[in-house]
Amino acid sequence: MAVAEDFKRRAAARALDYVSDGMRLGLGTGSTARHFVELLAEKVHGGLNIIGVPTSEQTLAQAVELGVPIATLDEVGELDLCIDGADEVGPQLALIKGGGGALLREKIVAQASRNMIVIADDTKKVDVLGRFPLPVEVVDFGLASISRSLKAAFARAGCSGALTQRKDQDGHAFVTDQGHLILDAHLGAIPDPAALASAVAEVPGVVEHGLFIGLASRVILAGTGGIVVLERQN
Ligand code: A5P
Repeated sequence: MAVAEDFKRRAAARALDYVSDGMRLGLGTGSTARHFVELLAEKVHGGLNIIGVPTSEQTLAQAVELGVPIATLDEVGELDLCIDGADEVGPQLALIKGGGGALLREKIVAQASRNMIVIADDTKKVDVLGRFPLPVEVVDFGLASISRSLKAAFARAGCSGALTQRKDQDGHAFVTDQGHLILDAHLGAIPDPAALASAVAEVPGVVEHGLFIGLASRVILAGTGGIVVLERQN
């Protein structure tokens, strides 16, 4: 296994320490969350009793294939714990998510969870968010107008940078599980994530953005030095 994959799997394995019998779990999306679902499936086959709520069609398919019991969010209501990856982890455990395009369901599930644990290799930890392009999920109407309003919102929050529409491997518009488009904002640095989150959320046509602030309670980072667990100080 490549080194980065090994770190992701180690972080995922550590997250199992926080899972106990009877829990209702949010199941994240992406390559790190994929390791977690695989490891969780092994525990389920060993007798662990949990129910999972997938954050994407991709994770749903994996859970079904591996025999992890699943339900919809509406069927289970509140979740005990959500375990997901991230594209960047910044100060106060603020995150950029959505590199896999699942940010909307991921945020709804994280918000419905009493706790959110993020699992990642330690290259995801940054001092300032924004090197990873910020995904913004938008409706497919008036894209040029939405883009102009977004750029004005970025400026109000002290940011600037190119906005590109995400494409799939065939060069077609990337469409999310909820049928929306994604604009990636190449901002370089986000000096005030909370200000940017508010400004972006006010733009008509924005469905959700990839800034997750105050949601992660714990981040498990794996790297050459071993595993580090960060806890959010309120
Ligand atoms: C999915 O939309 C994202 O939010 C992922 O959680 C994020 O991109 C992390 O993915 P990896 O674990 O593949 O890096």
